[in-house]
Amino acid sequence: MSEEQTLPTGLEDENVVWHPHTITRAEREAFNGHKGVVLWFTGLSGSGKSSIAGELEQALHHRGVSTYLLDGDNVRHGLCRDLSFSDQDRRENIRRVGEVAKLMVDAGLVVLTAFISPHRAERQMVREMLDKGRFIEVFVDTPLAVCEARDPKGLYKKARAGEIRNFTGIDSVYEAPERPDVYLDGEQLVTNLTEQLLDVLRGQAIIKP
Ligand code: ADX
Repeated sequence: MSEEQTLPTGLEDENVVWHPHTITRAEREAFNGHKGVVLWFTGLSGSGKSSIAGELEQALHHRGVSTYLLDGDNVRHGLCRDLSFSDQDRRENIRRVGEVAKLMVDAGLVVLTAFISPHRAERQMVREMLDKGRFIEVFVDTPLAVCEARDPKGLYKKARAGEIRNFTGIDSVYEAPERPDVYLDGEQLVTNLTEQLLDVLRGQAIIKP
């Protein structure tokens, strides 16, 4: 296809018109018996995001809640396989995941995302993509030294040895949330943290009591 024939994409394209769906989110939520929402876990590599999100997903599934877990390491094998860990690519990673999460919320799911998402601006960007109250930022606060001691994938060791560049917490920044919607002490037992999150979801009437 020549350059002239290439169609422009995205919102700038006046020939792409939003098609309204006949089944709405509200109808899907009524069908599911719970609300659609994103629980956006952020924290250092090894902080426990994936483990906590995984245990919460199991607990929700057992309560009949429709869920989906989007995890950084997995998404980077497919949707975001072309992206590196430069600031620019991390931003694009979060933008894509934000858009996918938004569609899943529209589908009425409780979406759990586990991405380092180190920059405040990107987390704010995703918050703004979603309707009010549909983005819940969950900060898994685990000290760097603890994450490094856990080092589940041996990546901190490699980063310290200079074998990996731009590693979050070592030679790349992590901007902790100033006012997260939910604060989790990452050194607590995963079971306790899961209970804390279930309380939040019940308290905000996202799931049934
Ligand atoms: S993010 O910064 O763009 O949000 P994401 O959550 O997708 O990161 O991926 C983080 C995971 O990729 C880490 O848990 C780790 O396993 C792996 N990883 C590989 N290289 C790096 C790096 N340079 N910095 C951080 N994580 C890395």
